[in-house]
Amino acid sequence: MWRQWFPPKLRPASTRKPGHDELLIQTEAVAIQPAAYKIQDGVLPFPLTYPTIIGLCFAGTVVKTGAGVMCFELGDRIVTNSAGTLRNDARFGALQRYVLTTQQLTAKISDASFEKAAALAPNLYGAISALILLLHLEKPSSTSNPLNKSKKNSNMGCITAGAGYSAVGVASGSNAELVKPRGASEFVGRADPSAIDALIALGPFHAVLAAAGSARDQDTISALLAAQGGGSFLSTMGVRAGVSLPAGVTGFFAQFLDDYLDPANAEFTRWVWWEILEQKLAKGQMHALPTRILGGLSHAQEA
Ligand SMILES: NC(=O)c1ccc[n+]([C@@H]2O[C@H](COP(=O)([O-])OP(=O)(O)OC[C@H]3O[C@@H](n4cnc5c(N)ncnc54)[C@H](OP(=O)(O)O)[C@@H]3O)[C@@H](O)[C@H]2O)c1
Repeated sequence: MWRQWFPPKLRPASTRKPGHDELLIQTEAVAIQPAAYKIQDGVLPFPLTYPTIIGLCFAGTVVKTGAGVMCFELGDRIVTNSAGTLRNDARFGALQRYVLTTQQLTAKISDASFEKAAALAPNLYGAISALILLLHLEKPSSTSNPLNKSKKNSNMGCITAGAGYSAVGVASGSNAELVKPRGASEFVGRADPSAIDALIALGPFHAVLAAAGSARDQDTISALLAAQGGGSFLSTMGVRAGVSLPAGVTGFFAQFLDDYLDPANAEFTRWVWWEILEQKLAKGQMHALPTRILGGLSHAQEA
């Protein structure tokens, strides 16, 4: 149970009954995303009724199915996003033993570990909606689909390389060896004094995603876009305070989970959860970032 500003407390909870399109999952691994501590700190102003149960992405086993569930059976090993904080419904909060979710945002995980599946799903669904729905890159085609190719084209590469794009990864220099094998054809250190020149030389770019951009990173992005004649970038946290965008450059924010809850995107949602994620997990083609496994709901605050 969470109260804003306070550490969570473990409490008994009743077992929920899944409604139409819903699954009851026994949780095995819950991903702690930045949103969790931002909710606790009041940085993300979701209108939640407290006390509540938070947590979005988790892996586990199907223990009950509701009416209308066609694609999942009891005992299926799955990963899902229950969207609990957007629903303001504690029954969908991941940080509990039995959680409700919907079949639309659920993927079977084959024999992938619960921990790996829970760690990968948030990365993948966010990146796909950012690049395809919001930045309008082409979807990977079935003929050039890297799902069928080398392991090198994983994670970001599954989206960009499969549609014929090259991805340039920008992160701390110390993370270069984590970024490169995950689909980046080039890497630029974000604190490197020559980062702007290096990026301009690699451009022009079809799409720019500021996945965790600080104000300084957004200045770099702005200079890059200005150099290629203007353009727009997508930021996971919006344009930072103090960033002054040059003429012809804009930045915009979007909440990726909203895309998956929008009925207009139903086909896209099915493609991500029931095709891309299931296939890549089954084939072991995605590589999780180093993950700390703390073990047990009583460690939620520590995580
Ligand atoms: N809009 C949405 O729907 C949405 C969805 C998910 C996440 N988010 C937000 O996106 C951000 C990233 O989420 P995540 O899950 O990828 O987090 P994460 O796994 O913690 O990754 C954060 C990465 O950002 C880089 N970073 C850290 N501090 C930074 C700083 N001050 N300036 C620039 N980069 C910094 C670090 O990599 P390097 O040092 O190697 O660059 C770090 O590994 C968070 O702020 C999160 O709340 C938004």
